[in-house]
Amino acid sequence: MKQLNIILFLILIGVPTVIAVKGVDLSASFNNFSCIRNSGYEFAIVRGYMSYGAVDYVGLQNLRNAKAAGLIGDAYFFPCKGKKTASAQVSEFDSAYTSEYGTVWIDVESNPSSGCGWSASDYTGNCQFLQDIVKELVNRGRLVGIYASQYQWSTIMGSASACAKFTSKPLWYAHYDNNPSFSDYPKYAFGGWSNPSIKQYVGDTTLCSVGVDLNYY
Ligand SMILES: *[C@@H]1O[C@H](CO)[C@@H](O)[C@H](O)[C@H]1NC(C)=O
Repeated sequence: MKQLNIILFLILIGVPTVIAVKGVDLSASFNNFSCIRNSGYEFAIVRGYMSYGAVDYVGLQNLRNAKAAGLIGDAYFFPCKGKKTASAQVSEFDSAYTSEYGTVWIDVESNPSSGCGWSASDYTGNCQFLQDIVKELVNRGRLVGIYASQYQWSTIMGSASACAKFTSKPLWYAHYDNNPSFSDYPKYAFGGWSNPSIKQYVGDTTLCSVGVDLNYY
């Protein structure tokens, strides 16, 4: 009986720590991913396309450095609605990043770059532009996910429930409650997703002397 209790205890304690996978996302140039790995993080999501409409080659080098250190490497794509077509942006990104990453996450958040902002009133157009970006990547055989928060999604798409077009794709959501868990998701849901895949639970912190956000998978 005592032994069974110990085993039960180990299962209860051990299972969550085994399945919890943590990672970082970053934009600064960095080459000490072994420090990130030794700190208990297993994946890195690099910036692949910048908010003003250009490929991020620093991100590409980060991706290679992260993978060389044994991390899983993804990229995020901050699209610019206004200066270039979805097709042109994806084509630029795809020529540089090819198949070096696992999933490319499309960053749906307010874009401060001049001429690149989501429309303040054309919610249908914003939703269509996001569909165009996703379609261009899927047509190239890439794995695509969506990054957003409930607040950003509502602001850009018109409401939390709007533009529920991507539920077959994984969701990476942001909610900075310092809690590596999806238990808060039902309250912060949007876009029709019932289950998220990744949570950004800490924003703007420093790890291994570089600015990162922390994520739970
Ligand atoms: C990488 O991080 C480790 C751990 O913090 C540190 O000891 C080492 O000096 C760093 N290497 C470089 C090149 O910054």
